[in-house]
Amino acid sequence: MSGSAFFRDFRALALSGLPRVGLCRPLPTPVESFPELAEVLGLAELRIKRDDRTHPELGGNKVRKLEYVLGDALEKGAKTLVTAGGVGSNHALATAWYGRTLGLDTVAVLAPQPFNPSIPKYLEAHRQLGTTLVGLGLGPPALAKLRRLAGAYNVPAGGSSPVGTFGYVCAGVELAEQLNDAPVDAVVVPAGSGGTAAGMAIGLGLAGVDTRVLAVATVPWPLMTQGRLRGLTTRTAAFCRDRLGLDSRPVPVALVTGHVGKGYGHATDGGTTAADLFRLHAAPQLDPVYTAKAAAGLMHLARGPLALRRVVFVHTKDWWPGIAERAARLTA
Ligand SMILES: Cc1ncc(COP(=O)(O)O)c(C=O)c1O
Repeated sequence: MSGSAFFRDFRALALSGLPRVGLCRPLPTPVESFPELAEVLGLAELRIKRDDRTHPELGGNKVRKLEYVLGDALEKGAKTLVTAGGVGSNHALATAWYGRTLGLDTVAVLAPQPFNPSIPKYLEAHRQLGTTLVGLGLGPPALAKLRRLAGAYNVPAGGSSPVGTFGYVCAGVELAEQLNDAPVDAVVVPAGSGGTAAGMAIGLGLAGVDTRVLAVATVPWPLMTQGRLRGLTTRTAAFCRDRLGLDSRPVPVALVTGHVGKGYGHATDGGTTAADLFRLHAAPQLDPVYTAKAAAGLMHLARGPLALRRVVFVHTKDWWPGIAERAARLTA
């Protein structure tokens, strides 16, 4: 099959092969080149895949996964989405938001995390959306019970079930088409629940790109480990084979550790330095929880194995300005 036939057929499969709710727009998200920043970092080339722009109002990486997660939930007749995350979780809020637009209730089990200015706005947005918020102190047995409630659909933290991760398989194929055979030595992504990295590795592999995915951990061991990342990649590849007949050979995917700092949600000096450097060179604004840590990992790798290499950095964070007010308007 010629390259363009593969991309056309994959697009058709992505649109109709699985239950899906069309949320991302417009696609493809842009890939932009940052030659000055590349030079400063010591890379031959730096391109940024702008997945902060998956949606004009509520973009970022979550929306790609939710297209398939919510499609699956609706097909299974779900009434309530049950999910988990930190109190400032982009995932929990995006789930509640897009769930509400489809008439689904959300129960979010939230764990403490260090304060950042988004947290009060996110909690107010949840209040407006009618999310049932549950403290993590409830404990795993109660969480399991919530998930078994009639009409409940379990959305794992980060939306990274195989069905959600398929959203990033699509992103990997999309990126491959945009690369148009230009060589790339590594694709660097932040890793929380791992779906972004695992999906990218499968999608790039399906499209025959010769590269690797480097996933910079933003959560501490054992929440994310090389074994977990590999397990999610294997389960998602099996899902792609069984449900869609896709024979995938994921590109190698490696977890990059050492950039989490004191823990999930704690800003790091390396992240702050990376965010400043991006700002100085007119690259997109990074957040301290995910993308700045991934960029700190990139800076570090650029002084070692990625020196003078060609890199794509996947930017996953949209800022959702006025989110609480917009949630109020959505439900008015
Ligand atoms: C902005 C942002 N970037 C990256 C991630 C990590 O992505 P993943 O959970 O797919 O590893 C998350 C969520 O966990 C996120 O909210």
